[in-house]
Amino acid sequence: MITVVGSMNMDIVVETNKLPEKGETILGKEFNTFPGGKGANQAVAAARLGGDVQMIACVGNDVFGKELTENLSHENIDITHVSISSEKPTGIANIILSENDNRIIVIPGANNDLSTEHIQQLKETIQLSKVVIVQLEILPETVRSVLEICKEFNVPVVFDPAPAQYFDPTFIPYIKYMTPNEHECEQLFGLNMEAALEKYPNQLIVTLGKDGVRYFDGKEHIKIAGINTNVVDTTGAGDTFNGALGYALSEKYELKDAIMFANAASSLSVEQLGAQAGMPSKEDVEKRLSEIYQ
Ligand code: RIB
Ligand code: NA
Repeated sequence: MITVVGSMNMDIVVETNKLPEKGETILGKEFNTFPGGKGANQAVAAARLGGDVQMIACVGNDVFGKELTENLSHENIDITHVSISSEKPTGIANIILSENDNRIIVIPGANNDLSTEHIQQLKETIQLSKVVIVQLEILPETVRSVLEICKEFNVPVVFDPAPAQYFDPTFIPYIKYMTPNEHECEQLFGLNMEAALEKYPNQLIVTLGKDGVRYFDGKEHIKIAGINTNVVDTTGAGDTFNGALGYALSEKYELKDAIMFANAASSLSVEQLGAQAGMPSKEDVEKRLSEIYQ
């Protein structure tokens, strides 16, 4: 079983040709709501690939919370440990899509009610996981208690340090794989990418969008090339990468193969509008890999 501990948000998505200036009103193109949240997206990515996934999260007692939970359930994700806050509304993400750009403001709401007490109560199920995936759209102390359990029971953790501002460097020894993008990598480690990669061999995996993925294997820098594709919406591309990486590791892929698999999964996810739309099945990923590498 793969356990994802993290956020569930309703994505409120506005598409526009250009961004308004300060004080300006413009007419945009289209409006949609989509299920999102980095945690839920990662869970869906892993489940579509065939992973046996459970979600640990908190939503509000409202329409969005119900919709998001049902969505996970339709994706065959175990929602037993999705709790309902009696006080806070379901988290939302305000997403503005314009040409070659997405900007996101998250209002965590009930995501911040997922507490260390919840995690302590779920210690047994967490320790039985093959892989645990976490991000930073829940409280850092909640993340810490997940990491402590994983360390104690030797459960590998895939950690997406986003949003990066909440990263605590004391987390690093608890994490098997951390997967920032290039921008987050510099922000987190205050080093250029090469130096950061060398400092954390086989642990730091940097995603570079269309330029692929990099890590350092202890001897050399490994560069997995990006995959050229028809990009419609990059929202959730990183989440697809993390969910797929977690899935591949739970299936005992070697690190490099797992990264190549996740890179291909993520390239498929950007072809459709919405964070979870476009997340592929395992067959889709294998097809893409065979198109590229044969
Ligand atoms: O990574 C993409 C996700 O970030 C969106 O689905 C949005 O909810 C924000 O959490
Ligand atoms: Na998508």
